[in-house]
Amino acid sequence: MSQTSPDTPEIHRYIAHLFAREDTLLRQVRESLAEHGLPEIAIEPEEGAFLHLLVKLSRARRILEIGTLAGYSTLWLARAVPKDGLIITIEKSLLHAKIARQNFRAAGFEDRILLLTGEARQLLPKLTPYAPFDFVFVDADKEGYPTYYAQIMDLIPSGGVIAFHNALWGGSVALDIHGPVIDGIREFNQMVADDPRVVSHIYPAGDGTLIVVKR
Ligand SMILES: C[S@@+](CC[C@H](N)C(=O)[O-])C[C@H]1O[C@@H](n2cnc3c(N)ncnc32)[C@H](O)[C@@H]1O
Repeated sequence: MSQTSPDTPEIHRYIAHLFAREDTLLRQVRESLAEHGLPEIAIEPEEGAFLHLLVKLSRARRILEIGTLAGYSTLWLARAVPKDGLIITIEKSLLHAKIARQNFRAAGFEDRILLLTGEARQLLPKLTPYAPFDFVFVDADKEGYPTYYAQIMDLIPSGGVIAFHNALWGGSVALDIHGPVIDGIREFNQMVADDPRVVSHIYPAGDGTLIVVKR
């Protein structure tokens, strides 16, 4: 039998310490959440670094994000695209969008990031003129994931990548725990795993990243 490593907090801390270092700018964006009374629900640095790596690997130039908050994940993504790349990020809260715009300006990325405010379900069908997107990151309402999945499939080419945050929901997907959100995430993961149009996998960065590549 080959050796496997246990999935412990120490292992996560070891990986994060080596590969997910937050610099001053990212730390300030994270801190801007508490300063402005926003929910402190940005992705972990470990997942930010992992998304950054995925964007680099896929050589993405055009990125779409659903769920901006204050722009923490947006900046991890934006730093991985070339200068002539474009990131469109969707946020329904006007307050979150205002803080995110301030953070993008302070980071010097406002020319590469287009923030659209509104309900993702309604905005996605209007994005055809900007398509195809090479890489999409989804971190908004979990009930919306199946709808976003269907809508995004029309906006990405063969080889396009989608990453969904919270695929493990604190680890409870693997336990006998039930409720509307956890059951929805489980069903969504199963649906993606069974979809013959894609290859997919979950990597346990942060709260779990479901990575999907369209065949
Ligand atoms: C978990 S936070 C995003 C965190 C961000 N990705 C980060 O790591 O920095 C989710 C965000 O999605 C937004 N959101 C939730 N449902 C949405 C919807 N239906 N359409 C657009 N935005 C939505 C929320 O207002 C919130 O700011």
